[in-house]
Amino acid sequence: MKRKPIDFPEFQVQPFSLLSRQWLVLTSGDLKTGRYNSMTVAWGSFGVMWNRPFVQVVVRPTRYTFEFMNRCPTFTLCALGKKYREALQILGTRSGRDGNKIAETGLTPIPSTRVEAPGFAEAQLIIELRKMYWDDFKPEQFLNPAIEENYPQKDYHRVFYGEILAIFGTGEFSII
Ligand SMILES: Cc1cc2nc3c(=O)[nH]c(=O)nc-3n(C[C@H](O)[C@H](O)[C@H](O)COP(=O)(O)O)c2cc1C
Repeated sequence: MKRKPIDFPEFQVQPFSLLSRQWLVLTSGDLKTGRYNSMTVAWGSFGVMWNRPFVQVVVRPTRYTFEFMNRCPTFTLCALGKKYREALQILGTRSGRDGNKIAETGLTPIPSTRVEAPGFAEAQLIIELRKMYWDDFKPEQFLNPAIEENYPQKDYHRVFYGEILAIFGTGEFSII
């Protein structure tokens, strides 16, 4: 996939369709050691905080990726085209604890430029991020009681804010 570096001010993204419809692959760990893991994510946000561009993701403590996200300072987010839907299904329904699901997807991990976690050669968009904040959702602060329905096992998400260090994308992700 042909991607070019995109400066943050030129980055354009449709956050609602990207997250809710296309989904993203979150990867944490270190390509060099071979210890990394990926999972599909569909909840999060893009924004600016403390004058820094960020993407916020949420990871339940039950995910294998949770261990990597706590241990590792950086992570990547990748968007993939329609023909990789099956790969996203695999990454979003199987656990890296139980086998090499990344190999099963056929996706090709590639080195990042600023972080240890890999991106994927097939991605339309690769965002390299460094964690800058985390917190755990506090159920007593859910103002809409319906939110609790997402947590029958009380596995409240941990929120991670990743500062965007680098963006590589196809033309549609750049305003110039
Ligand atoms: C479309 C989709 C979106 C998902 N979004 C999230 C998410 O935002 N946060 C989360 O913790 N799990 C999410 N999941 C579930 C994880 O991707 C799934 O549990 C995965 O198997 C975890 O893999 P792991 O155990 O290797 O980390 C999503 C799954 C799918 C299919």
